[in-house]
Amino acid sequence: MEAHTDVGPPPEGSGGSGPDRNLAMELVRTTEYAALACARWIGRGDKEGADGAAVDAMRMLLDTVAMDGVVVIGEGEKDEAPMLYNGEQIGDGSPPQVDIAVDPLEGTELCAKGLPNAIATIALSERGTMFDPGPCFYMMKMATSRDLAHLLDLDRPLGETLQLMAKEKGVPVGDLVVIMLDRPRHDDAMKEIRDVGARIRLIPHGDVSAALVAVTEGSPVDLLYGIGGTPEGVLAAAAIKCTGGQILGRLWPRSDEERSAALEGDYDLDEVLDRDRLVSGDDVFFAATGVTDGEMLDGVHYIGPQGATTESISMRARSGTVRRITARHDRAKLREILGERLG
Ligand code: FBP
Repeated sequence: MEAHTDVGPPPEGSGGSGPDRNLAMELVRTTEYAALACARWIGRGDKEGADGAAVDAMRMLLDTVAMDGVVVIGEGEKDEAPMLYNGEQIGDGSPPQVDIAVDPLEGTELCAKGLPNAIATIALSERGTMFDPGPCFYMMKMATSRDLAHLLDLDRPLGETLQLMAKEKGVPVGDLVVIMLDRPRHDDAMKEIRDVGARIRLIPHGDVSAALVAVTEGSPVDLLYGIGGTPEGVLAAAAIKCTGGQILGRLWPRSDEERSAALEGDYDLDEVLDRDRLVSGDDVFFAATGVTDGEMLDGVHYIGPQGATTESISMRARSGTVRRITARHDRAKLREILGERLG
């Protein structure tokens, strides 16, 4: 009998969807090595160097994963990105056929400046099920936890939504915290939030980990709001499909040229993209490893001259299992296998 892969329905006559291979467990190795590689660049002020190290390490490990993957969300177009470019084939070529979203270093500047919340991350789903952002660099996003998800609405005034959220939680609106990227384009939204008495946590970068914090029930953050990267929106949607919660997005062209390119590419700029539109598959995997210390994950820590520890999460939508994995690495041994990448 043909082996049942973990993506797509089980073969006929296999008696349903029993336990099977969990690709997220294998993906964790790729984010661990990406994190270990770019950790050597933390605080060195060189975001390209850090990103390059993460991409190089993740690319090398991805070829060891038994899958036939295509990068849908990657490092850009082929001529700009030597590796993990959009459309690149990844894995050893054997089934399952999957779409891949990668951000080997989400928060390049966080890493370069030694700031919290830089992560290495990857998501995977059945072939043809990930939203391809095409020319659309940014989208408007809001994300929250499962219990408040029904209140998300991109068209209702934000202040009203916050009041509804507070009522639903049974708390004063002043207890609510909105996490958002610190950008001048958010000035109006910041005023609206503060006018109703809610509070804001401004972050310099990293709205994938911000989305993860916002969708976690019981976390100190209630809502992610604002305009950020579309690729990061797809990655966050993959994680949210595993953990529960909701993200709503709408494409936000930066210029008339981008708007025209999006319309020519048949993108609907009014469409509300929810988590199931951003990632429509049911068998979705997500993995992330901390690079710098953050709220969700500890970063890479060195132990003596040869050791290092990492902390990761690995998730799968079908089972809903979220694993937290700490690993101790022997850098001397890894150097023998992977060369000087891990420093
Ligand atoms: P990079 O890791 O590619 O630098 O992206 C970091 C990030 O802050 C994302 O988390 C966010 O979605 C996007 O950049 C916001 O873009 P901008 O910095 O242009 O506002």
